[in-house]
Amino acid sequence: MVNKGRLSFEDQLKDAPLDLRGFDRPRALIEAIEEDLTPLLDLVRRPVISARQFTAEQILQLARLSARFETQPQLTTRPLTGKILISAFYEPSTRTRLSFESAWHRLGGDIMSITDSASTGIAKGEGLKDIGEMLNSYGDLVVLRDSNENSVYQMAESLRIPIISGGNGCDEHPTQALADIYALLKWRPAICRKPYSDTPVRFGVVGVPGRMRTVRSLLLLLANFASALDEIVVISDEDEPFADEQLEELTEKGLRIRITDRFEDELPLLDVVYQNAILWTGSDYQELGVRFRLDSNSPLKPGAIILHPLARGPELSSDLDDTVHNWYFAQARGAVFIRMALLATILKVFV
Ligand code: CP
Repeated sequence: MVNKGRLSFEDQLKDAPLDLRGFDRPRALIEAIEEDLTPLLDLVRRPVISARQFTAEQILQLARLSARFETQPQLTTRPLTGKILISAFYEPSTRTRLSFESAWHRLGGDIMSITDSASTGIAKGEGLKDIGEMLNSYGDLVVLRDSNENSVYQMAESLRIPIISGGNGCDEHPTQALADIYALLKWRPAICRKPYSDTPVRFGVVGVPGRMRTVRSLLLLLANFASALDEIVVISDEDEPFADEQLEELTEKGLRIRITDRFEDELPLLDVVYQNAILWTGSDYQELGVRFRLDSNSPLKPGAIILHPLARGPELSSDLDDTVHNWYFAQARGAVFIRMALLATILKVFV
């Protein structure tokens, strides 16, 4: 019996089935996407606030760049040396803050991190527009997370350096959606090809798309790959899980969406199950609960993958962690590389 605690992460992955961790998949992605950095030029020095901003070509080139960072870390020549990231997280975060900071560090930059708005002038009533004006002089790029969906827009008003939303209240979480798509493309690189010629993917979303910011952004990005999707099955016990006009927008963009509460009946038919637990209620959140819980006894299709933006609650049992369905850890790991790709693009150090 191997004591995995004594092995490095990479050594553990060598022993793991490839489908379990998605570790070898970036190479397949590099082969599937022809390099063309031109679409990325439109992202240079631009803010990132909504998933609506990204075209299919940009997503694919970002994914390819991420795959290069993931497979060839020695190619990273620390191009952000001397640049400063302002990492402003006014709401708790494990993955988004630390993976952005890890990405920036891996690109060679320095970081100023705010993890509590009460430690800034906000505690004395200072407005975000004024704070943004100050940040222009202090750093080269801001990542902001805030429970108020308007904050990112208020700060952007006075910023002359780029800002990336790390999640704004109930509204969106565009870079989480990029991490989700990166995992999806590694799982099935054929999604990159047009016309799509593989079996269409049946994609399940558990939860309430109208009040889950990760899901709101993910569905917008998925619309770029609608031809690869058989349908999106939204599993929810709410009568109206979508926000006003959200369903119409996604349908107009080409997604075929069906809403159901028949979790156990749908699971055996889904290729991807996007599980999530956090529902936004304005400035606060609540957890979905355990009606739609996944565990190793759930009737999952053989080979189906589970994605989850994490943090998880009881809706995703840890007894799935050592199964082939677990792609949520690969998804979280890939977030570092997709954020490296995005940061390198915005600061135009990708060539
Ligand atoms: N996925 C995600 O946004 O996680 P954190 O809240 O830990 O950043």
